[in-house]
Amino acid sequence: RNIIAVVPAAGVGSRMQADRPKQYLMLHGKTVLEHTLQRLLDYPIIEKIILAIAPNDRFIGQLPIIKHPKIQLVQGGETRADSVFAGLCCIENPEQTWALVHDAARPCLRHEDLDKLLAVDDEHGGILAIPAVDTIKRAVDFQRILCTEDRSQLWLALTPQFFNARRLLGALKQAKEAGWVVTDEASAMEFAGFQPHLVAGRSDNIKITRSEDLALAEFYLGRR
Ligand code: CTP
Ligand code: MG
Repeated sequence: RNIIAVVPAAGVGSRMQADRPKQYLMLHGKTVLEHTLQRLLDYPIIEKIILAIAPNDRFIGQLPIIKHPKIQLVQGGETRADSVFAGLCCIENPEQTWALVHDAARPCLRHEDLDKLLAVDDEHGGILAIPAVDTIKRAVDFQRILCTEDRSQLWLALTPQFFNARRLLGALKQAKEAGWVVTDEASAMEFAGFQPHLVAGRSDNIKITRSEDLALAEFYLGRR
């Protein structure tokens, strides 16, 4: 099977409250996006990287890495799912291709986690995830506790997420048409009736979301 990475990088990073989208903030002198792309480029099984960028992006042109022959740019969409869908539409042979969808905002991905995820080989596909460590409450009226969830059955979804490209395209389309809120690829696949595998990943594969995450990501990147 061919393996193509789809990297959504068309968000604005509103929770970061920085002067630019968070994928263009610096970690050890390189942007978050460059770290993420380099990590995928260094993994030779990935044939190509489709990178979804906002139409009004003013920063991407300044990154030399985008001239890499394996990287193809596509215009992203209004939601993360739309950006991923736009990326998947560039795949020429979706039936024979597996899409590895990975957030631009997760630069600390390790190859050992890719090895584990790419071992998944059935129609359901799989995602990296970590078992919940905190006690998890369900809220009612915004900030009062309705109940405590059974933590032993709860996982936090990470990326990459790995699916046959044709099945994922179909699932995203089906979910969108039904108005289903899709915050990761697996939720669309679940909606379409699949049960993706949970592959235990590393907890340092953080998504850079708030300003305090930058120092943590620099620490994790420096440790490798
Ligand atoms: N993303 C995208 N297209 C969108 C929204 C998000 O490609 N319309 C990408 C982001 O660039 C990011 C990834 O999806 O790499 C994960 O999304 P998230 O962490 O939510 O990033 P933002 O949407 O940019 O941040 P925020 O939600 O804080 O605004
Ligand atoms: Mg977002």
